Amino acid sequence: MTLPKINPTTTQSWKKLQEHFQAEKNNRIQDLFEKDPNRFDSFSIQWEDFLVDFSKNRLTKETLDLLEELANEVDLKAAMRAYFDGEAINQTEGRAVLHTALRAPATAQIYENGLDVVPEVHAIKAKINSFCDAVISGAHKGYTGKAITDVVNIGIGGSDLGPAMVTEALAYYKNHLNVQFVSNVEGDHVREVIKTLDPETTLFVIVSKTFTTQETLSNATTIRQWFLTHAPEEAIAQHFVAVSTNLEKIAAFGIHPDNVFPMKDWVGGRFSLWSAVGLSIALAVGPNHFEALLAGAHKMDEHFKTADFQENIPVLLALISVWYNNFWGAESEAIIPYTQYLRNLPAYLQQGIMESNGKGVDRQGNKIDYQTGTIIWGGSGTNAQHAFFQHIHQGTKVIPADFIGFKKSLYGETEHQNKLMANFIAQTEALMRGKTRSEAEQELKSKGLSQSEIDALAPFKVFEGNKPTNTLLIDALKPESIGKLIAMYEQKIFVQGILWNIFSYDQWGVELGKQLANTVLNDLTGNEIAQHDVSTTALLKHLKQ
Ligand code: F6P
Repeated sequence: MTLPKINPTTTQSWKKLQEHFQAEKNNRIQDLFEKDPNRFDSFSIQWEDFLVDFSKNRLTKETLDLLEELANEVDLKAAMRAYFDGEAINQTEGRAVLHTALRAPATAQIYENGLDVVPEVHAIKAKINSFCDAVISGAHKGYTGKAITDVVNIGIGGSDLGPAMVTEALAYYKNHLNVQFVSNVEGDHVREVIKTLDPETTLFVIVSKTFTTQETLSNATTIRQWFLTHAPEEAIAQHFVAVSTNLEKIAAFGIHPDNVFPMKDWVGGRFSLWSAVGLSIALAVGPNHFEALLAGAHKMDEHFKTADFQENIPVLLALISVWYNNFWGAESEAIIPYTQYLRNLPAYLQQGIMESNGKGVDRQGNKIDYQTGTIIWGGSGTNAQHAFFQHIHQGTKVIPADFIGFKKSLYGETEHQNKLMANFIAQTEALMRGKTRSEAEQELKSKGLSQSEIDALAPFKVFEGNKPTNTLLIDALKPESIGKLIAMYEQKIFVQGILWNIFSYDQWGVELGKQLANTVLNDLTGNEIAQHDVSTTALLKHLKQ
């Protein structure tokens, strides 16, 4: 079967949710806590090393029941079965969506087109592991007999963001290899990276699912040319490896067949860090930590597959997000990890979430007349507090935010950790409570201001509060917990795509830019400028002057 195709706005539960929203819209989260002393227990989930507190949201048990009804009406369960069973749910590209198979244990059986994919997944993983062991131990030598010291991942989008984000997230677990990432086609960045490299001791990992991506091929070509100004052609075999589905193109680029780490077309780029695309992660932290990352993701997959919807972390987060997006008119969601290690999580999730669910046509091919994908942004706390928190506290928009924190710091810096977590906790409380006019006046009075000064200042000191947050409190930042966290967001993406009746696993919207860039490149490098609008033509002329 293909995915169910149900317009959510035509369901009974959608109508009930609209009515429910009208009845509830003036309620305040704080009042909900006063009415229900058990609210935290009822609206939080303790699972493994995760505590997920969603009690500081504008919702009641009735809201969750109605949202669950919606999930049932759009047949989320059937969609989940189709997804995990390897059906071609990426219908517009005719492919299965099986990144979950990449983290399944060797004992699992997952079929795609009648073939169990698990043995090949584990065979590729074995190749990754033994290659990483050889590079890390120094057994794999460069062309002058020296061990590898530096790794450069050349890729973009899903072939860069996941590996780069996770390598940074797991910096505490890193070995001696210095791992860098080149993604943008900007030559200046390539040159800055090259400046730091010794060709004798650098390994280049070219990652491109299609092996046709302009940025990646340009960067790889420039780096290869630079490398060959120092080393002989045969040295390519020791210094260049590639990850792709396109074995022909890899061969044409001159990569030795032993140095190819294949990936399958049923892995979407933005969900590919679990595949050979994660080679740079495995090199940076070693195969054992990479395995732990995958094991964590698998645990989250099992939780997602088996837990009841109201006990299911990704399902709940997806339902809450739909509640704000479609009933409260929230336009964006903020992701605020309280750790520098995860400072690139928001950028990573921007691709994951926005490339997946930024769609305006439903699964029947009709233009959609309701809101879909949320805009994702964020930054690490406490830096974010000193940057954009003003807007969340006192701006005019509803911005649901996920606060992600860890109970223990990795280096045991207790004093810092206490301050960090004090901010973490204080912010969600403040966002919910706000500050009333009389509290603001009282505060000004205690500072000795006159009544007229108080009257003038008080309006600006008021915080409306009632700002929704989810708190994810995880025991410690470990490879396994990062695996769980990423998989949690991946499954949230899936659920939202199903609820919105869209296809989450294609990305036709990025193709237009690619096509146009090729035309404009001809304009820039050739003698003639093709037909464009007046502004574009003027800009091209200016560039060519
Ligand atoms: O930008 C679109 C996109 O297709 C992403 O989905 C993908 O992650 C990225 O380009 C890179 O593609 P590739 O791995 O094929 O080079």
